[in-house]
Amino acid sequence: MNRNIMDGDAMKSDVIVALDFPDRRSVLDFLNLFDSSDDPELFVKIGMELFYSEGAALVREIATRGHRIFLDLKIHDIPNTARGAMASLSRLPIDMVNVHASGGIDMMKSAREGLTRPDGTCPLLIAVTLLTSINDEKLRDELRIKTDLQSFVLGLASLARQAGMDGVVCSPLESYEIKACSSSHIITVSPGVRFPADATEDQARVVTPERARERLCDFIVVGRPITRAVDPVESLRRFRSAFLKTDQ
Ligand code: C5P
Repeated sequence: MNRNIMDGDAMKSDVIVALDFPDRRSVLDFLNLFDSSDDPELFVKIGMELFYSEGAALVREIATRGHRIFLDLKIHDIPNTARGAMASLSRLPIDMVNVHASGGIDMMKSAREGLTRPDGTCPLLIAVTLLTSINDEKLRDELRIKTDLQSFVLGLASLARQAGMDGVVCSPLESYEIKACSSSHIITVSPGVRFPADATEDQARVVTPERARERLCDFIVVGRPITRAVDPVESLRRFRSAFLKTDQ
């Protein structure tokens, strides 16, 4: 449950644009493209590349421009360290942040404790199940996990639910099943989304935005097909229109 934005705006389904840029200048050049578009306020994802180079100052600057922010740092450490990391992040104007579900229930609960602000508000806290760059073969041959991929992901999603996470990061291929196994509402945030003509790059499990909608994803995360498009504004419009089924 979102304890941050009372009007539920952070919960509204959308395409989250992955700002995988190396520095502030390239991000701002990208965001400026949307200033005169019909829908200038985006839901953006700031990941490790940008956060490690520009830090909290850029998070604040992007929030000031009116964008919702998913801070994708995928915290994975012992519970005490995860709690401290989240306490530091709780001071930022963010809407969503994440941990790895494979860190276990205690770690996820500690992360929640750290992230909860003194006034009781808390950004959405979600847990990564399995990276969408991992397929069945890699799970079996490299990670040596004997369980099949879908059961493995469902197991991690169940841990996330037990730990009281607001949602999970998963492939759209598992979103429907995760929701079906969950008695209460659980948000699914899914990367690995491409139109058939797009390059899949390093994503091993990809689906179209239409399919992601059918699979009940609440949010899709799209990076390179938008950030490297000749016309990023038009590319986001296409993804939104296909995922949200609007004519915008
Ligand atoms: O460029 P692309 O659309 O592949 O970007 C996907 C984004 O989603 C990247 O920023 C990547 O770090 C992130 N992500 C992912 N798989 C996960 C979790 C996050 O691809 N399981």
